Amino acid sequence: MVNRRSLLKGSVVALAGSASAKLGADPAGPLTGADEAIAERSISFSPVHPGIWKATIGNPENYTPVSGRTIAPDAKAIQQLPALTEAPFASISGKVDSRGCLITLPLDEHEEIFGFGLQMLSFAQRGKKKTVRVNADPKVDSGDSHAPAPFYVSTKGYGVLVDTCRYASFYCGDARRKPSHSASTPKSANVQTPGSTRNVQAGEPSHMLVDIPRASGVDVYLFAGPAMLDAVRRYNLFSGGGVEPPEWGLGFWYRAVGTANSSEALAIARDLRDSKIPCDVLGLEPGWQSHAYSCSFVWDKGRFPDPAGFIKDATALGYRVNLWEHAFTHLSSPLFDPLHPHSGDYGVWGGLVPDFAGKPAREIFGEYHGKNFVDLGVSGFKLDECDNSDFTKGWSFPEFSSFPSGVDGEQMHSVFGLRYQDAILDQFESRGKQTYSLVRSSGALAAPYPFVLYSDLYGHRDFVRALVNSGFSGLLWCPEVRDATSSEDLIRRLQTAVFSPLAMVNAWYIKNPPWKQIDQKKNNAGELAEGWQELERRCRDLIEWRMKLVPYLRGAFAKYALDGTPPFRALALDFPNDQKLHTVDDQYMVGDRMLVAPLFAGEASRKVVLPAGAWHDFWSGKPYEGGRAYTVSSEQENIPVFVKAGSIVPLGGVGMTTDAESTRGLTVAVFGDGSMPWRLEGSSGFELRQSASGRIEARSTGAKPHGYRVGEVKQMGKS
Ligand code: GAL
Repeated sequence: MVNRRSLLKGSVVALAGSASAKLGADPAGPLTGADEAIAERSISFSPVHPGIWKATIGNPENYTPVSGRTIAPDAKAIQQLPALTEAPFASISGKVDSRGCLITLPLDEHEEIFGFGLQMLSFAQRGKKKTVRVNADPKVDSGDSHAPAPFYVSTKGYGVLVDTCRYASFYCGDARRKPSHSASTPKSANVQTPGSTRNVQAGEPSHMLVDIPRASGVDVYLFAGPAMLDAVRRYNLFSGGGVEPPEWGLGFWYRAVGTANSSEALAIARDLRDSKIPCDVLGLEPGWQSHAYSCSFVWDKGRFPDPAGFIKDATALGYRVNLWEHAFTHLSSPLFDPLHPHSGDYGVWGGLVPDFAGKPAREIFGEYHGKNFVDLGVSGFKLDECDNSDFTKGWSFPEFSSFPSGVDGEQMHSVFGLRYQDAILDQFESRGKQTYSLVRSSGALAAPYPFVLYSDLYGHRDFVRALVNSGFSGLLWCPEVRDATSSEDLIRRLQTAVFSPLAMVNAWYIKNPPWKQIDQKKNNAGELAEGWQELERRCRDLIEWRMKLVPYLRGAFAKYALDGTPPFRALALDFPNDQKLHTVDDQYMVGDRMLVAPLFAGEASRKVVLPAGAWHDFWSGKPYEGGRAYTVSSEQENIPVFVKAGSIVPLGGVGMTTDAESTRGLTVAVFGDGSMPWRLEGSSGFELRQSASGRIEARSTGAKPHGYRVGEVKQMGKS
């Protein structure tokens, strides 16, 4: 386990430029006003880390993602990436006026753009306008997101972070100056740029324009490749490095119905055990608190008369307990008085909005959680409602709010989720504990945080797209399962969840597990579906697959921690030169050798694009030729998963939790010639490789024992 804050102390000096002095600092003094106009001019980049440069225009605001960060860049790991001495471009241009800042960056005719955080509704961004605004219901493809990030990457192999907490708008290539003359260019010279809806004239320069209202200046960070994936790695390492969750976090999660009392929640927990459904984490929804909207952060005496006893019983059953909450603090809360001077001037649901941009609020809020919940044995939290409300009655704090630390409501929305994560994470880290938790909002520089995003929206395709997009911006996404429109829908959703960073059924509004009754009303009326046992059997089988995947997932996350490679990511990152993959938003890579293509209920078939190379069907071992597409019928029982030919894939044993001894026995699946060894990096690392004689050998690579035993070796088809 890496204590990220300890990195902060050691490496403040490593960050060149003005940001280093502000590292971890709270915003001080009044915000800089846009008092000085700067005409459009070229601004050049200077190096801050190997392969990372910064350009500054005007007076950047006091509070930005970089200046407000609490976790330092992983400077050592950045040095291990391919060395590049020249910036992808030498300068950009910018201006400052009474509106704010405008930055102009180059964009080639055939360049494609990805990123901007957790985008649920679009993938390739060229030609679009994206405003990075925090929103709880991002139903429109405007850039709104639970976790927007002012960061994008390009197929030319670089990334750009515009260091602002403003709702900046990125015009990805189609905002152009008016024509300078009435050129009679022949129509045949017109070209269509990727993603663009407009024809532009051949040779006419295109740009990325970034409009940052209210900012009197801004820093722009440039991350070199050479490949797009290297740029993402550099950004993740600059963020502090990728997170490595505790093993139990990668098991299966179940959130009990929100109204459950302690005996009902324990009954659900026991029922899962009786049904032999593996589960590591039991989540409690709002009902555990005496007041939930806003929050008291106090157990409800009626429903949970003995919290310590409840945690003890859940622990005895093998569960970790995760508590739902949000930050808005109710009058009845013991936190209300101490937080009052450290909160915003507007409230939410009759509660305070803690000033998480400032250290005092984070400490007061965090310490309370440490003493009352972490010390009690709570393994993590679900940090809800920390995004913003625009289409749902405007329940959150307004953009014109002001906070004692000096930020306004707009800036606060951009960091509220992240700084909330800081407040909680500190408590686990200071006790030498790990957490894997949930959060509904995040943003720039989030890679080191053990928090996974989720949504109230429920489109399965959108959930998969979010998963594909998350890997561009250092975010983790949970495509949670709730109720379903059909058994097929439930199975397809659960299959996606099994191949995701956090596999969870969130039954917060249904009393029984969805496999007993998919219909919400009937479920709550206790009317179980006829023959539900068969659906439960299929779901159990899928959840067992999650358990088998844990060692492989651990390997993918360990690599994230080592060099910033996102464990879940778009195919375009691994195969950047294949233009056909630049639009594939319904397939993704897990780790370096596994490709997943979810099936969606109600669709008769789907196209699966296999990138160039030789592949195998993960389930049967059947060889497949890459560089072409296949049609998969929806009647196929398994979700389409492919692995690269030569892959060695470890499959864990099944147990009721990841702590079970049975999980340590590995089945090793060898696809084709077994020429691709598999490695778990880190202190309890090990490697599986095939010897010249064809034997699978396990070699410890870390100082600590890994505890795995190699059992059966399964040859899955020769290519
Ligand atoms: C929502 C959240 C749901 C559930 C619910 C409880 O905001 O997204 O997952 O926790 O609150 O009220």
